[in-house]
Amino acid sequence: MRITVVGSGYVGLVAGACLADIGHVVILVDSDQKKLAALRSGEVPIHEKFLPELLQRHRDRNLKFSGDLQAAARSSEVIFIAVGTPPTEQGEADLSYVESVAREIAGAIDGYKVVVEKSTVPVYTSHWVRKIILRHGVKPGSFDVASNPEFLREGTAVADFLYPDRIVVGADSERCASLLRAMYAPLVEGSYYSRADAIPRPDAAHIPPPLIVTSTKSAELIKHAANAFLAMKISFINAVASICESVNADVKQVCEGVGTDRRIGPRFLNPGIGYGGSCFPKDLMAFRAVARECGYDFRLLDEVIRINEDQRNRFVRKVRSALWTLRGKRLGVLGLAFKGGTDDIRESPAISLVQTLLQEGCQIAAYDPAARERAREVLNDSVELVDNCYDAARGADALLLLTDWEEFSALDLSRLYREMKYPIVIDGRNLYSPEHMAAQGFTYYSVGRPAAAPENQPAARSQVGDADPS
Ligand code: UDX
Ligand code: UDX
Repeated sequence: MRITVVGSGYVGLVAGACLADIGHVVILVDSDQKKLAALRSGEVPIHEKFLPELLQRHRDRNLKFSGDLQAAARSSEVIFIAVGTPPTEQGEADLSYVESVAREIAGAIDGYKVVVEKSTVPVYTSHWVRKIILRHGVKPGSFDVASNPEFLREGTAVADFLYPDRIVVGADSERCASLLRAMYAPLVEGSYYSRADAIPRPDAAHIPPPLIVTSTKSAELIKHAANAFLAMKISFINAVASICESVNADVKQVCEGVGTDRRIGPRFLNPGIGYGGSCFPKDLMAFRAVARECGYDFRLLDEVIRINEDQRNRFVRKVRSALWTLRGKRLGVLGLAFKGGTDDIRESPAISLVQTLLQEGCQIAAYDPAARERAREVLNDSVELVDNCYDAARGADALLLLTDWEEFSALDLSRLYREMKYPIVIDGRNLYSPEHMAAQGFTYYSVGRPAAAPENQPAARSQVGDADPS
């Protein structure tokens, strides 16, 4: 099939490359000329596993890059909209890019085409996209608007696209649903998975994935509801972790006991410094705004957001309780991306914590395996950005673990110990076991677990909010 994807950001680029990999001819469109030039010359603008391989495999063959939306749309049967939908000051999704793209697509409809929303948008957006296209005089039968939400996690987005738990197609006509079903046939019927050059199957993947056809409105709601539920799961366990800290219980044990109930499941039950990224924070606010507009006061979401913000404050209090005063303290920071496996720092809790600690007068040396350049754009010279974990730890009063990069859970602890001024580690991602860290000579704080210290040293028993009810 001939497919256009408008917007070559995190979502559009991955979707375009994966659609090419399952056998379609794809044109990736972007209004950013610099990005297009970089993509054409073989650069990969984002850090995403398997993306370089896919771009190399298909570039100049069945994957092309263009700035001409109308020409691309004219030559395609399916046109995905994957441009950004940033939040407005009121927390609603700003749909102006979606609208202007829809207007341009209208001028290119000269035979039956399906316009697919891939960006996360509020319910009723497909309705509006349809209206905009009709206003441009396009005949009602000559196009359909569908919603095909993405469930891609940054860092594993390619595998998430090719080995999804499910594919959701929101379509209001059978013609539209069949076209999209045909487009996804290599995944749904499984032929992709028997190819020798298929991207490797992740351990937990079930193949082939089911394809669920819904109305467009339901599909739009599925995306918001799924993200809100996952964020709620994270805030829930963060709240439980706070209680664990108060009573010196271990949240990891609680998670195991809770998560093995198959109705609950173990995933997205990792406590930490709160969720970030380009989706959860923005989508929760947008879902909240949509609910309000529909007359439903979704206060549960307010609480999810509040717990998430509080989680960062609790972490700063934890640093304070480990170090007493903060002004002039030297901190090593490992991780600036909003999570491991990506260079994305949008709404990164790590960046926000670094900014707070700078305001408190700390000096910071930070290391991130991929997000260094993006972090430099926001932190400028306020933080020393170093080349490895041990440079970050050198001479530090404490080391903070803020992103769950795999390499941070395999540190050479004796080297780390030698580099630091004081062997204090404050782990916002629970990457180590407290007993192990104490045995290696560290005073170790984490989230929702008792603090630990080497024998013969007064264990700073207190976590934030520590209280002995007796
Ligand atoms: C996407 C979705 O749009 C968002 O709704 C979802 O919740 C998260 O993912 P993402 O791919 O991360 O956003 O956005 P971004 O990396 O900003 O990419 C958007 C791309 O669209 C940019 O390359 C931008 O240049 C391009 N764009 C934007 C256009 O080509 N035309 C426009 O009118 C606006
Ligand atoms: C998310 C959704 O998972 C994906 O389906 C959607 O389409 C886009 O948004 P992403 O933002 O890339 O994906 O990352 P995700 O893995 O969901 O993590 C989001 C945030 O939650 C990160 O800051 C992460 O560190 C945090 N998180 C995640 C936790 O704190 N605990 C967890 O157990 C899981």
